[in-house]
Amino acid sequence: MEYTIETLNRMAKDIRNISDFAPTVGVVLGTGFSNFVNHLEDNKSILFKDIEDMPETTNPAHKGEFVIGRFAGVNVVCMNGRLHNYEGYTSPTCVLPVRAMCLLGLKGLVLTNAAGALNPKYRPGDLMIIEDQISQFVPSPLIGTNIEELGTRFPDMSNVYDEKTTKKIYDDAIEIGLDVKKGTYIQFRGPQYESKAESKLARLLGGDAVGMSTTTEAIAAKHMGIKTVGFSLITNFANGAMVDADAISDDDVLKVAAKNEKEYTALLEVCIKNLANA
Ligand code: HPA
Repeated sequence: MEYTIETLNRMAKDIRNISDFAPTVGVVLGTGFSNFVNHLEDNKSILFKDIEDMPETTNPAHKGEFVIGRFAGVNVVCMNGRLHNYEGYTSPTCVLPVRAMCLLGLKGLVLTNAAGALNPKYRPGDLMIIEDQISQFVPSPLIGTNIEELGTRFPDMSNVYDEKTTKKIYDDAIEIGLDVKKGTYIQFRGPQYESKAESKLARLLGGDAVGMSTTTEAIAAKHMGIKTVGFSLITNFANGAMVDADAISDDDVLKVAAKNEKEYTALLEVCIKNLANA
């Protein structure tokens, strides 16, 4: 689907109209993170499917809604659930909700996901702040006619996750006692988890964590000039990358995420405050 700036602006207006709060920070909640919206005060929501032309989420773990509310004194808009390539959506379609959210005049965006560990030092339950990404295994979200109002045809990606803010978030997280890592996230298309050889390949290429989302959204946000940061919650070992781990299941991914809600919520607070105060 090729969309226009008018479509995106209309979607942004539909989101903005659900609340009196003008959001300053956007958050994309990945698999297992959905309970975060319950921490937002005075929250108001709208389902993707109630916004004209917005595609629906088909992953049952992803509600597919926008929620606006206040968290840690900051007006926040959350995308509770996202669109993935494996649902049959093209990359430009996958980033449509993120683009609509970024048109709300955000100071910054936080991307989150559940991911498999490629780095042998990582364990399920670890939090990895994303320093950089490998996106070349999925088509670019910028394929097709460039919408000049959003950004330039050939955007620079050398600082896709804002370096300065990312460093500050890491330091602040360590200071409050969170055991965070930092590393490179690699996106594969899914929906199947990686074979052992694919995990080895991903590690050889420099990946520390692997998942099925996020890099396309980071590219779209950077294209629009939005300051972006992100982190992964490691929910499992990527089979074959370092150990012969147990078979991965989406159930286990959700269980590990639920068990680590306190930690990922604390890291979200650090990210949100840093972007709001930048
Ligand atoms: N691979 C891909 N996506 C994932 C994984 C994984 O191991 N864990 C959670 N999401």
